[in-house]
Amino acid sequence: MSFEADIGEMVGDEREQVIALWSRCGLTRPWNDPEADMALAEASENATVLVARADGRIVGAAMTGHDGHRGALYYLGVDPDCRRGGIGKALVRAAEVWCKTRGAPKLNLLVRNENQAVLAFYAALGYLPTNSISLYRTLDPERAESERAEKVAWMAAHG
Ligand SMILES: CC(C)(COP(=O)(O)OP(=O)(O)OC[C@H]1O[C@@H](n2cnc3c(N)ncnc32)[C@H](O)[C@@H]1OP(=O)(O)O)[C@@H](O)C(=O)NCCC(=O)NCCS
Repeated sequence: MSFEADIGEMVGDEREQVIALWSRCGLTRPWNDPEADMALAEASENATVLVARADGRIVGAAMTGHDGHRGALYYLGVDPDCRRGGIGKALVRAAEVWCKTRGAPKLNLLVRNENQAVLAFYAALGYLPTNSISLYRTLDPERAESERAEKVAWMAAHG
């Protein structure tokens, strides 16, 4: 089955629906604030939130942007009731166009270890594993401390 959805950049009054969708899709974690992430993307000319709209509601969303070197894709999610209809693919392709138009030659994304099932989706779209290990450092020491504790609690609850 294929779903008809219009893809475009998020407008202000869609913020809450998008955050609710990301939560429904299991994309949020206690140590990442989706509202703050969204606000940062909205404040930057180099980032955006793309949404898929159908029947007057948001059925999919993704955050994309580029850092002057590579494009990146975050928070890709499609409403569980609307999956396997091409919306996820359409959002990824729209993010690719958004980044390529701004000069980014590649699009990078992260898949959480606990979300290996999604690798088949990305493989179908032509995404390859990198030969790299992704590292990070939380730059605010207070936030780093609370994040550590939240991750331990989340892992204990979710295995
Ligand atoms: C991943 C996700 C966005 C895919 O959205 P979708 O709208 O269902 O995907 P599409 O219908 O565009 O799929 C395109 C193709 O990808 C492949 N694909 C999609 N979901 C798949 C799955 N669960 N298993 C295997 N292949 C899959 C298929 O080849 C599919 O084409 P087909 O339906 O004709 O077989 C959606 O499942 C989702 O929101 N998952 C939860 C959030 C998530 O994990 N996001 C990614 C974070 S890195």
